[in-house]
Amino acid sequence: MKFGKIHLVDDDITTLHVDAIVNAANNSLLGGGGVDGAIHRAAGSDLLEECRTLNGCETGNAKITGGYNLPAKHVIHTVGPIWKGGKQNEPKLLASCYLRCFALADKYGLTTIAFPAISTGVYGYPKKAAAQIAINETIGALKKNSKLEKVYCVCFNQETREAYEIALSQL
Ligand code: APR
Repeated sequence: MKFGKIHLVDDDITTLHVDAIVNAANNSLLGGGGVDGAIHRAAGSDLLEECRTLNGCETGNAKITGGYNLPAKHVIHTVGPIWKGGKQNEPKLLASCYLRCFALADKYGLTTIAFPAISTGVYGYPKKAAAQIAINETIGALKKNSKLEKVYCVCFNQETREAYEIALSQL
């Protein structure tokens, strides 16, 4: 599905030939399960070596590394909030993840970027609310950064795809 420069895709993010894929990491940046595990497995151990030099990442922030064995040139690691009911600043922290990832894309002149549905797996963020934030921040970034050509939102399951389709339909 295409909305200008926003593309919903169902692929495994580790297969995408883009300037950067975004990793839904944890504060240690030393790998984990979910998309974090998939990215580290596909990138190889050099990714972990570089992550070790980054001294972790605060929730809501993002850090960039090389892509190593991935088809993507870079990995942008961001740490989403763990859902605790919505009254612990989760929406702002999730929005910050997207903002910081787009700021790095701008800084490095990246033109194509792919996001997983940050925080909506292990971290339990409700999918519809998270998709709304993802789309809102993406629209904002596309307005500000004319270098961006394509933003892929990876919908790794049906519920996520429906959440993004609803968010896009409300534009
Ligand atoms: N490609 C694209 N999306 C994927 C992939 C993949 N290979 N694997 C999982 N996903 C999707 C999930 O289906 C979900 O929609 O990524 C989204 C984010 O889910 P998680 O990976 O569980 O990430 P998150 O909810 O942010 O939790 C982060 O999980 O893996 C650990 O180390 C990680 O502690 C951190 C936590």
